[in-house]
Amino acid sequence: MGLRLLRLGDVPALAEFTCGDVDLDEFLREDAWAYHEEMFAQTWIWEEDQLVVGYVSMVNDRIATDNLDSTKRDSIRLCREELGKNPMSSGQIPAVKLARLAINSRFKGQGRGSALVVEMAALFASRENRTGCRLMTVDAYLSALAFYEKLGFRPQAVKLKPGSETIPMVIDLKRFRT
Ligand SMILES: CC(C)(COP(=O)(O)OP(=O)(O)OC[C@H]1O[C@@H](n2cnc3c(N)ncnc32)[C@H](O)[C@@H]1OP(=O)(O)O)[C@@H](O)C(=O)NCCC(=O)NCCS
Repeated sequence: MGLRLLRLGDVPALAEFTCGDVDLDEFLREDAWAYHEEMFAQTWIWEEDQLVVGYVSMVNDRIATDNLDSTKRDSIRLCREELGKNPMSSGQIPAVKLARLAINSRFKGQGRGSALVVEMAALFASRENRTGCRLMTVDAYLSALAFYEKLGFRPQAVKLKPGSETIPMVIDLKRFRT
């Protein structure tokens, strides 16, 4: 796929990148490198023919296993079962968060966004991953809810917080392990 860890100087045509969302465009151009340097996020670029097709920015996360509502409990049921009777003595399941995801407007609707998420899921599910993370989470824009649902993400909560423009979603990474 040609995914590359962000090196701003090496990525051509960064200024031309637009996904139609100003915040996500600005993050890539102005903030991603500082987040990388300050160890707040790792940004990965998908480049094709010198063009930035999309990017994804990843951070560590966790899901607390106490006070789960029914949707969240169902989302993580399988990993609880697989880990044994009382696996969650720490009260949390390690996760990695898709903090930002954007596809160049020129390439939308061609399967690139799904491919990028699946690629990242496989990367974090791999046995070579340097840390444990069983779940992938995302605070999905409401406008992108169906996109994530098609990939198998499920909402973490039954009810949305009033006024919220995002919905926390989760997927079990085990299904991406080969
Ligand atoms: C959301 C985004 C990443 C999707 O990328 P994409 O490459 O266009 O998506 P894909 O072509 O892989 O789409 C896969 C499926 O999801 C659907 N889909 C894609 N975007 C969707 C959306 N916003 N709402 C509903 N369904 C969507 C597609 O129709 C497709 O369905 P199909 O398999 O039945 O044909 C991209 O549109 C984007 O960058 N949007 C602006 C930024 C954004 O919203 N980022 C997400 C932040 S949480």
